[in-house]
Amino acid sequence: MKSRETWKSKLGIIMAVAGSAIGLGNFLRFPVQACQNGGGAFMIPYFISLLLLGIPLMWIEWTIGRFGGGFGHGTAPGIFHNMWTKNRFIKYFGIIGIFGPLVIFIYYTYIESWTFAYAFFSAAEKYSQATTQNSMLSFLKGFQGIEKNNFFSSIQYAYIFFLITFCMNMFVIYKGISGGIEKLCKIALPSLIIFAIILTVRVLTLGTPDPLKPGWNITNGLGFLWNPDFSALKSAKVWLAAAGQIFFTLSVGIGVILTYASYLKKTDDVVLSGLTSASANEFAEVILGSSIVIPVAFAFFGPIEIQAIAKGGAFNLGFVTMPLIFEKINLGAFFGCIWFLLLFLAGITSSISLAQPSITFLEDEFNISKKKAVIIFGIVAFILCQPAIFFLKNGVVNELDFWGGTFCLVLFAAVETILFGWIFGIEKAWEEIHHGADMQVPKIYKFIIRYITPLFLFLILGFWLYQEGISTILMKNISQSDKPYILGTRLMLLGMFITLAMLVKIAWRKRKTKIKK
Ligand code: ALA
Repeated sequence: MKSRETWKSKLGIIMAVAGSAIGLGNFLRFPVQACQNGGGAFMIPYFISLLLLGIPLMWIEWTIGRFGGGFGHGTAPGIFHNMWTKNRFIKYFGIIGIFGPLVIFIYYTYIESWTFAYAFFSAAEKYSQATTQNSMLSFLKGFQGIEKNNFFSSIQYAYIFFLITFCMNMFVIYKGISGGIEKLCKIALPSLIIFAIILTVRVLTLGTPDPLKPGWNITNGLGFLWNPDFSALKSAKVWLAAAGQIFFTLSVGIGVILTYASYLKKTDDVVLSGLTSASANEFAEVILGSSIVIPVAFAFFGPIEIQAIAKGGAFNLGFVTMPLIFEKINLGAFFGCIWFLLLFLAGITSSISLAQPSITFLEDEFNISKKKAVIIFGIVAFILCQPAIFFLKNGVVNELDFWGGTFCLVLFAAVETILFGWIFGIEKAWEEIHHGADMQVPKIYKFIIRYITPLFLFLILGFWLYQEGISTILMKNISQSDKPYILGTRLMLLGMFITLAMLVKIAWRKRKTKIKK
C-alpha cells in the first residue's frame, strides 16, 4: 500500500474541518434562514437537529474516515467497501460522497470569486455610484454578466476573478494536506474570526444610525431576528430548513469530512476533535453570523424594508444590502473590504475541502501522483464550472445547489448512518469511535446513532418526496424558457455520476487483477 499523507498536528485537522464548516453558510445563509423560519423559535429545531443529526454525523464521518484511511482509502467507495466487504454494490453508493462535493464545488467557487472581487470593489470604492437597492442590484447583475449597464458591459471582470480564485484553489490542493490545506486554514481561520469580531463590534456599537428614526436601531434589529414566533414550529418546512442548515453549515453528509479524517493516524482522537470543530462552527454561526447582516440591515433600512430584504435571500443581502450600508458608515471602504475578505476566506477554506475527495479518489484508487490528480481534476472541474457562470440567470446554480447541496447530503447521510449503526454494527462502531479518544461519547448516542438519526433522515427524505418530490422532478416550478437549461444541467449531473461509477468499476477491476497476479 502506498504511504499516504498525514496532518502535521491535531490543531491542523481541527482547523481544516472547522474551515470546511465555516463558510458562506454561516454569515449569509443562517441569518436569512432564521429570519424566514420563525426567528428565535427557529433555534429550537436548529439545536435539536444539531444534537440528533449534526453531532452524530460529525462523529460518524470522522470515525469512518480514519477507519478507511487505515486501508488506504480516503473516499466513500473504498471506505464503504471496507465496512461491508461482502457486498459488491455498496461501493457504488459511496460515489455520492465524491459526486456531491464536486457538484457543490463547481458553483461554490464561482460565488467565492464574487466575494474576492467585491473585496477589491470595496477598497477601490467601485460601487459608490450605486446608492439604492435597485442600482446596487444592477451593479451585481452587470458584474455577473446578466445585464449590460453603466457599471459593466460584459462578464469579463467576473470571469477574471473566477480564474484567479480557481487557480488559488488548485494551488492549495496541489501543495497537499499539510503543506497546503493545513497551512492555509491555520492562517485563514483565525483571520476570518478576527474580521468577523471586528465587524460584530462595529455593528453592535452603531446604536441608532439616524437620530430622526429612533426605532431603527441595532437592538430592535436583534429583536427582529430573535423574537420567537412559536407558531412557525407547526410547519414541517421550518423543521426541514433547520435540518438543512445543520447539514450545510457543518459540512456533514457531503463526503468531505471523511476524506480529511482519512489522513489521521489510527491512534488520533476523533471524539473531542470532531466536537471542537463543530463548536467552532456554531460559535461562528450563532454568535457572529447572527450579529452582523440582519441587525445592521434593520438599523439602516427599518422594519418594513427589512422584510423584503430578508425575503430577497442571502445573495442580495450580502452583495446588495451590505455594500449600500458600507457607503453610509465611516471607514466604509475598510469595513466593506474586510466583510468581503471574511467571506472569501470562509469560502476558500470550504471549497478546497469540496475538491479534495475527487483528488483523493484519483490518488488512492488509481495510484497516480498528486500533480497528475490535480491536473485531471483542474481540467474537468474547470469545464464543469462553465454552465454555472454563463447560465446563472437561467437557474443553473439553484439546480446544482438543490441536488449537490441539499438532496445528496440527506441521502448520503442516510446511507452512512445505516452502514455505521447497523451493518458495521453499533458495538464495533463504538469501539472504533473510541480508539485514541480524548473523551467518552455519552452512552445515549449509541441509541441516537442507531435509531434516531436514521429515523430523522428518512422522515426528511419522505417529507420532501411527499411535499415537493414530484413537482421538482417534473420541473413544475421552472419557467418554460429555463427548462432546457435545467434539463441540460440534469444531463450533465447524470453524466458525471455515470462517469464516476465507471471509474469505480475500473479501479476495482484493476485491483482484482493485481491481487490475482
Ligand atoms: N459548510 C460550508 C458553508 O457553510 C459549505 O458554507
